Amino acid sequence: MTDPSPTEIALEARLSDAARLFSPSAARNRDAIGDLLAGLLPPSARVLEIGSGTGEHAVSVCQRRPDIDWQPSDPDAASRASQNAWAAEAAPNMRPSLDLDLTRPGWAEPLDGVDALVCLNVIHIAPWAVAEAIAAASRTLLTGGGLVYLYGPYLEGDATAPSNIDFDRSLKSRNSQWGVRARSDVEALFAGAGWAAPDRHQMPANNLSLVFRRRSPL
Ligand SMILES: C[S@@+](CC[C@H](N)C(=O)[O-])C[C@H]1O[C@@H](n2cnc3c(N)ncnc32)[C@H](O)[C@@H]1O
Repeated sequence: MTDPSPTEIALEARLSDAARLFSPSAARNRDAIGDLLAGLLPPSARVLEIGSGTGEHAVSVCQRRPDIDWQPSDPDAASRASQNAWAAEAAPNMRPSLDLDLTRPGWAEPLDGVDALVCLNVIHIAPWAVAEAIAAASRTLLTGGGLVYLYGPYLEGDATAPSNIDFDRSLKSRNSQWGVRARSDVEALFAGAGWAAPDRHQMPANNLSLVFRRRSPL
């Protein structure tokens, strides 16, 4: 009896599937984000992503841009395992995920410089201190210029989409430190770190991409 055991093969596949997580919202927005971001990054860009979640956005950009070097991260171990599994499956230009929690002092100190900081769907579902930490790190990690790319929902005064006002209420009811951020607050925060007013791109489901570039060299 030399037939390979179907059970062993199935177990291997299940292990791989168990590590790789699939996000329905990433399935809806990853092409729009991937197309935009892939067109913005400079050749051979070194990218640090904060809060990479399942890793599907990283894969989407890395597949469009095999020349770039993408460092995913997340404080959540299951998310890091998913990012690593996706990298092994589909994106050799993704590095092993780092355990980065931006509320931890000194989180950026061991990191090398990068050409882009990317953060998708995080700053509304984390304390404001996380947005402040990204802005602070943009000073030390992006010394050569580069760009900061933020994706998510924003409050824009009277122009705010009703769905984002509802989302803001729901986030705050879950955690008083969370909430959809005002675009003006985010822009002021990054202006203080030396970034010009961002390019604003309308994205699916009333989300925005904000693309910050240096106002002037550091
Ligand atoms: C809504 S998910 C978004 C995941 C992914 N970026 C996406 O768009 O599908 C929020 C992510 O932020 C991460 N996160 C939460 N608090 C964080 C913190 N303090 N530092 C870094 N990442 C954090 C979570 O672990 C999670 O992966």
